[in-house]
Amino acid sequence: MVKGANEKIAVIGLGYVGLPLALALARSYPVTGFDISTSRIAELRGAADRSGEVDAAMLRASTMTFTDKTGDIEDANVYIVTVPTPVDAENKPDLGALTAACGMIGRILKRGDTVVFESTVYPGITEDFCGPTLEAASNLVCGEDFFLGYSPERINPGDKKYTVDKITKVVSGQTPGIAARLAEIYGHVTNGNIFVAKDIRTAEAAKVIENAQRDINIAFVNELAMICNKVGLSTHDVLAAAQTKWNFLPFTPGLVGGHCIGVDPYYLAHLSRSLGHEPEVILSGRRINEGMSGFIADQIDKHLGRKPSRVLVLGLTFKENVPDLRNSKSADLVRQLAEKGHHVDVHDPCADPEEAKTEYGLDLHPVMNDIPPADCIVGAVRHEAYCDFTSEVLSAQVVADGLIADLKGMWRHIDMPDGIRRWNL
Ligand SMILES: NC(=O)c1ccc[n+]([C@@H]2O[C@H](COP(=O)([O-])OP(=O)(O)OC[C@H]3O[C@@H](n4cnc5c(N)ncnc54)[C@H](O)[C@@H]3O)[C@@H](O)[C@H]2O)c1
Repeated sequence: MVKGANEKIAVIGLGYVGLPLALALARSYPVTGFDISTSRIAELRGAADRSGEVDAAMLRASTMTFTDKTGDIEDANVYIVTVPTPVDAENKPDLGALTAACGMIGRILKRGDTVVFESTVYPGITEDFCGPTLEAASNLVCGEDFFLGYSPERINPGDKKYTVDKITKVVSGQTPGIAARLAEIYGHVTNGNIFVAKDIRTAEAAKVIENAQRDINIAFVNELAMICNKVGLSTHDVLAAAQTKWNFLPFTPGLVGGHCIGVDPYYLAHLSRSLGHEPEVILSGRRINEGMSGFIADQIDKHLGRKPSRVLVLGLTFKENVPDLRNSKSADLVRQLAEKGHHVDVHDPCADPEEAKTEYGLDLHPVMNDIPPADCIVGAVRHEAYCDFTSEVLSAQVVADGLIADLKGMWRHIDMPDGIRRWNL
């Protein structure tokens, strides 16, 4: 614990972001983790993390405690909010979880407390939305009785290299004093690797543009893939050549799902529209990326040539090596292939079969070898287990004149027996 420090921290929302952060903070401060999900709290108390971000030993070794009772976090003086910020059916910001978290914190807020938001938002949400919501619930005055901070989360679930303690943490506060206090607190997590942003709005904007920038860059290579398909070139071969230039950006085509890259640009677009500016680049990037599953389904259908075919889709999670099924574009691809009349089997070594069934009505195959050879194998997600495939493994899963649709270019180096056809994005 930090000597002489009197910080007592409560982390609100123990998902992919909140849990690793809370554990890292608990090495230096007393930390209580709060979540509205009773089952999540029970699981964490039993030293299990279904998101796969932290292991049982870390949970057991930590001094942090877990709760779903607000009474257990009443004595905190720093509240860090890491609840989801998704979009609704019309791709508009859904601030429901933020509203609920502010209402709950407001009811227990005391003079001198600080509330820090880590959830991804657009500039203005912390001060113009969360501040008033906290005021309404607490009858305290924001900026006088309690203070706001914003520190965007940058972790990349599944990434074991850039973990929460190894990335530069951007912090911001309603006053210079609050910014300094947060720099001190977060500095213990990141060994002092802190960037103090000019103000809260700047920190909010920085996060949302990081993800919008990725989305636009991926949209560019996805559009390139559509052009390469028409010209008869391999996108991956073109990119491999272009990437030898020192300032060429190394993006690869593919499906863009999940709750960050595929969502955050809509937050920025919403703000932009509310200010009377039509965000053309941001939304055209979104349109291209949203349309990729349809484009890929059309191409596979065309290259297959026969109907109905048996298609085996490998990978359902929204990205590689995580169990996260939210906003899975692979699931969109499966649906569209089925709508074209094909029989589709799905395998994923990381996803939870029960969740796949509840979320998408899909029965995941637990063992790939049990699936009869398909007319087409689709490599949809770059899970480590799939990257290790050999020619023998792939050949065993596809019929002699079958098609291998390698969306991520992960099997480009593998020579396949004559007769097996290949299609790469
Ligand atoms: N996962 C990422 O890759 C990532 C990276 C950077 C930033 N972010 C942002 O961080 C935020 C959290 O994302 P996540 O992936 O950790 O979400 P998550 O869904 O994994 O976790 C959110 C947790 O919050 C809990 N929760 C929901 N409403 C609550 C409430 N009112 N009070 C208390 N707990 C509540 C949920 O039960 C859940 O356990 C989002 O704004 C997201 O955009 C996510």
